[in-house]
Amino acid sequence: MKKFSVVIAGGGSTFTPGIIMMLIENYDRFPIRKLKLYDNDKERQEIIAKASEILIKENKPEIEFSYTTDPQEAFTDVDFVMAHIRVGKYAMRELDEKIPLKYGVVGQETCGPGGIAYGMRSIGPVIELIDYMEKYSPNAWLLNYSNPAAIVAEATRRLRPNSKILNICDMPIGIETRMAKILGLNSRKELDVMYYGLNHFGWWTEIRDKEGNDLMPKLKSHVEKYGYVVEGGDSQHVDPSWNDTFLKARDVYKTDPDTLPNTYLKYYLFPDYVVQHSNKEYTRANEVMDGREKYVFETCKKVIEQGSTKGIHVEIDEHASYIVDLATAIAYNTKEKMLLIVPNNGAIINFDPTAMVEIPCIVEKTGPRPLVIGEIPRFQKGLMEQQVAVEKLVVDAWIEKSYHKLWQAITLSKTVPSATVAKQILDELLEANRGYWPELK
Ligand code: NAD
Ligand code: G6P
Ligand code: MN
Repeated sequence: MKKFSVVIAGGGSTFTPGIIMMLIENYDRFPIRKLKLYDNDKERQEIIAKASEILIKENKPEIEFSYTTDPQEAFTDVDFVMAHIRVGKYAMRELDEKIPLKYGVVGQETCGPGGIAYGMRSIGPVIELIDYMEKYSPNAWLLNYSNPAAIVAEATRRLRPNSKILNICDMPIGIETRMAKILGLNSRKELDVMYYGLNHFGWWTEIRDKEGNDLMPKLKSHVEKYGYVVEGGDSQHVDPSWNDTFLKARDVYKTDPDTLPNTYLKYYLFPDYVVQHSNKEYTRANEVMDGREKYVFETCKKVIEQGSTKGIHVEIDEHASYIVDLATAIAYNTKEKMLLIVPNNGAIINFDPTAMVEIPCIVEKTGPRPLVIGEIPRFQKGLMEQQVAVEKLVVDAWIEKSYHKLWQAITLSKTVPSATVAKQILDELLEANRGYWPELK
C-alpha cells in the first residue's frame, strides 16, 4: 500500500495535536510515511511540534516527522497539504469581532464585517500556499479548511482556477453528528443527505438512512423543540456559547420548516438577537484564548517538559476524520459523497454558475463531481444572492485594491443596517488591518 507524505500548514494551530492523533488513529486506512508541520510563526509552532514529535514517537514511530518555517522544505515531496492557517491569529480575530459590535453589528469570525476583514487577510496567504505547493510538489492536493472558507474559495476560483485545492468545512459534520445522536444512530456515516447553500449558509433538504427511509420528520420534531441540542453533542463544539447557537437553530428552522438549517444562519436571520446576546468586552476570541488555546499550549508544554505523554491525555480529534475521508477519496478513488465548496456550474439551476456553493459531491481520484440540486426556493435564492454578492465584492476589492468595493461588500451584508454604519466599521477595520490588507485606493 502506498504511503503518503503530508504537510500541515498552520502547524501552530490549536487543532494540530488532535489532528495528528486522528491521523495516527486512522493510519490503517490512510498510511503516512512523512508528516511535516509548516507555519510562519516559529515560536508558536515549536511548542506544538515538539509535543507532536513525542506523540508520534510513542504511537507511530515509523512516521518520519519534522517541522519548519521554510516553504521549500515544507512543500517538497508532499502528496497532501492540510491547511488550517489563521492569518492574524486570535489577536486579529478579537478585533474582527469587537469592532463591528461597537456599532451594534454582529461581531463574528466568518460572518458579517468581521468575516470580510478576515477574508481580506486570508486571500494572499492561501494563494501563497497554493503557489508553494505547485512549485515544490505539483502533483499534490491542498485540502483547505482555513477560514473564511467562502471568501477564500471564491478567491482561489478566480486567481488559481486550475489549482488542486478543495475547500471544506466541519460545521455540517458537527451538525450531522448531532443529527445521528438525535436519531439514536451510531454515526453520521449512517446518514445520506442532500444539502445546498454557501459556506456557513446552507440547508439540508433530505436526510435518509442507507435504506432510503426519510428521517426528516423525526429530526424536525426534535429541532422544533431543542434545536440541535442533544445529549453528548459533538466533540468539536462544546463550550456554552456553542450550545446557545445549537439551541437558536430552533428559531432559524421556523423561518423555513421545509428544510433543516446550518447554525450559522442565525447571524443573518437574527442579527439583533445575536448583538443583544454578545458581550462587547469579551467575545468568542477571548473564550478561545482563555480556553482552547491555553489548554492546548499548556498541555504541549507539559508533554515537552516530562518528555512523554505519561499521565497526560491528548484527545483524538475524531471529528476531523472527514479530512482523512477527503484524502482517501482522492487517493483511492472511494467515490465518497461529501459536502464541498465548489463552483456551482449549473448544479443549482436557478443560481449564478460562478458562485462557490456548498453541495454534495462524489469525490474521485480526479476531484469532486458535484450532484445536481435543481431549483431552489425564492427565500433561499434571495438570501444566497445577497450573500454571494458580498463574497464576490470582497474578492473584487482585494484584486482591485478597491476601498469602494469593500464598502459595497460591507453595506450589502445582511448583518449591516446602512451604508453609513458600513463605512464607520470599514474605516476602523482598515486601520486595524494595516499590513494585512492590500493598500486600498
Ligand atoms: P490558530 O491561530 O491556533 O492556528 C493557526 C496557525 O496558522 C497559527 O499558528 C499561525 O501562526 C499560522 N499562520 C497564520 N498565517 C500563516 C501563514 N501565512 N502561513 C503559515 N502559517 C500561518 O487557529 P485555530 O483556531 O487553530 O484555527 C486554524 C484555522 O482553521 C482557522 O482559519 C479557523 O478558522 C480554521 N477552522 C476551520 C474550520 C472549518 O470548518 N473550515 C474548522 C475549524 C477551524
Ligand atoms: C465551526 C466552523 C469553523 C469555525 C469554527 C470556530 O467548526 O465550521 O469554520 O472556524 O466553528 O470555532 P471556535 O471554537 O474557534 O469558535
Ligand atoms: Mn466552517
